Amino acid sequence: MQGSANLNLMIRAARKAGRSLVKDFREVENLQVSMKGAGDFVSRADIAAEKIIRDELMGGRPNYGWVGEESAEAEGTDPTRRWIVDPLDGTTNFLHGLPHWAVSIALEHKGEIVAGVVFDPAKDEMFVAEKGAGAWMNEGRLRVSARHRMIEAIFATGLPFGGRADLPETLRDLGRLLPACAGVRRWGAAALDLAYVAAGRLDGFWERGLHPWDMAAGIVIVREAGGLVEPLDEGGDMFDDKTILCANERIFDQFSGTLRTVA
Ligand code: IPD
Repeated sequence: MQGSANLNLMIRAARKAGRSLVKDFREVENLQVSMKGAGDFVSRADIAAEKIIRDELMGGRPNYGWVGEESAEAEGTDPTRRWIVDPLDGTTNFLHGLPHWAVSIALEHKGEIVAGVVFDPAKDEMFVAEKGAGAWMNEGRLRVSARHRMIEAIFATGLPFGGRADLPETLRDLGRLLPACAGVRRWGAAALDLAYVAAGRLDGFWERGLHPWDMAAGIVIVREAGGLVEPLDEGGDMFDDKTILCANERIFDQFSGTLRTVA
């Protein structure tokens, strides 16, 4: 894919952070870990990776704003553009030695995500997309699945940890969906769940309680691969409501209809 200068900057930053994370992952048992909240971990690895990405992106585009999981927000002199970054999505997997985590970098322009990069260094899979230019994984074009029968489809979600208040809703979602489909996965890295929908490995994904940095890059990757992405409640806002629902366009209405049914 012939990416813009911004996309190439994002890819460079993701690769650099990926190298640092792989080094830390090899010695993960020696990492000092702390908790930001119940079940919500942070380590030297996340913080170092975020610094690498911030230096790279803010060095290249000092006028853009910044929202990152591990560091303070910044407003740029260009109020229309900001980076939205999760240096390590899937921290809990990472800290348990599970090789399923990713770097997630998005560029927002006038409230819309226009470019996204989700990099899985352990599998060397680089998912990228730019608005209007398609979605790619390494050198291959991405396309959502074509499955249209719920009973053949698999979906992913995230399960609320640490006593989060949205547990009853998620259990209700599972109760509605499980009898209707071929299975539900919980892999622990929302950015990769979204990238996998774009790649057609999953037919859809939904989650409650997600932060903008978990989903921003994945949103444009799924859309550019031909998928539909919305907040769980129709007419809401994904970042404000902290919810997301996406699927291939053939199954979207059945999938969203199952989850959105009024109790
Ligand atoms: C988490 C992962 C996980 C999701 C959680 C997120 P983090 O992000 O994306 O899949 O279920 O809601 O917080 O904390 O590892 O960056």
